[in-house]
Amino acid sequence: MLKNKKIALYVTGGIAVYKSLYLLREIIKQGGEVRVAMTQAACQFVNPLSFQVLSQKKVQIDTFEEGQPESVSHIDLTDWADYSIVAPATANIIGKLANGIGDDFVSTALLATDHPIFLVPAMNTKMYENPALKHNKAFLIEQGHYWMEPDIGFLAEGYEGLGRFPDLDRIMAEFNHFIIARNPGILSGKKVLVTAGGTVERIDPVRYISNDSSGKMGHQLAQAAYEAGAQVSLVTASDLPTSPFIDRFQVESTLDLYQTVSDLYDHHDILMMAAAVSDYRPVNRSDKKMKKQDDLTIELEKNPDILAEMGRRKDQQINVGFAAETHNLEEYAKKKLASKQADLIVANEVGRGDRGFNADENAALVFSRGQDPLELPLQSKKEMAQKIIEVVASKLPASPK
Ligand code: PMT
Repeated sequence: MLKNKKIALYVTGGIAVYKSLYLLREIIKQGGEVRVAMTQAACQFVNPLSFQVLSQKKVQIDTFEEGQPESVSHIDLTDWADYSIVAPATANIIGKLANGIGDDFVSTALLATDHPIFLVPAMNTKMYENPALKHNKAFLIEQGHYWMEPDIGFLAEGYEGLGRFPDLDRIMAEFNHFIIARNPGILSGKKVLVTAGGTVERIDPVRYISNDSSGKMGHQLAQAAYEAGAQVSLVTASDLPTSPFIDRFQVESTLDLYQTVSDLYDHHDILMMAAAVSDYRPVNRSDKKMKKQDDLTIELEKNPDILAEMGRRKDQQINVGFAAETHNLEEYAKKKLASKQADLIVANEVGRGDRGFNADENAALVFSRGQDPLELPLQSKKEMAQKIIEVVASKLPASPK
């Protein structure tokens, strides 16, 4: 998501400055290029050298230290940056930005920034509740800047309150969302429904029928669709995490999955069924743990075929199914394409260990009607999900000019 993005990170003086080092490291880990500027107050908390080492770039602090005669350093930074983050943002820098005060490197650079700034305030609760801060906050939001609400928790002053520097995962999720909202993607304006994970059919309170699906493929598809600009609903039987900006529906059995997909389907443009759905369920579920017996027969009944049913209900939707096969990949995939009235079938080989169920990588052939299959060689599920999303987007009807 952050690959090749140029990010100016402004660090202002509060106890949370050290947490900004983790933020810097995470942005770089996610592919971003970062230049850091600090206020003098921030340098009191953490030596700029730490930021320099992690960013591998000189940290800018002094407005009058003009290293390159051909450019003005604070303008050069704002012109260079695609995105700007202030983390932690003190009440002081918020006040300066809202009131047009530029009296050091950070404040002058922020005043010269012509794109919305991502603000991560962190301060004592009483400061956060100060009417002047509230006034400045309202003004900055009105101006289009992004305001992250701080966390509630244990503050440096030794008591609980609102004002803590937010959890790193939450900052990254909101920052990614901020970027996605500003960049139309190939699925912008579309609603995508994804299923993931292996369904569980209970036999008794401690036993069940399921499969080895981890949900990785489906969760990556949901994330890739979200990053491509779609509004995503994920119906999952997996406990893997998801972005807070993806609508998540937790299910267990095939009937749960069926009911949820059925309720949501008509409100979506694209259905992607990566869930490994149990074709059968026990006719009876025992409320008590079943005792050992010499002969045990568990009678099974057929579950609904969700993809096939959505194929029958299809209006404008694009339906994407998966085929998990140990052999005859092409033959079975083509049959599923026809019998389930799918637009695409992503056929992946399972039972090999390095791909398919529970692996981090996958390989597939993508079948669509009247076209040669597209080969997706062994790659990470994240990369594969992005490629599948590109194929799906190419099937969308062209939007009217
Ligand atoms: O979750 P991971 O560990 O990352 O593994 C990924 C995966 C191997 C599970 C995934 O890539 C995959 O292949 N998912 C589909 C598994 C499956 O159920 O395949 P199938 O060939 O049995 O079913 C064909 C299609 O019909 C699938 O889209 C399935 O979701 C759907 N189906 C199946 C049965 C049923 N009763 N209703 C359905 O809708």
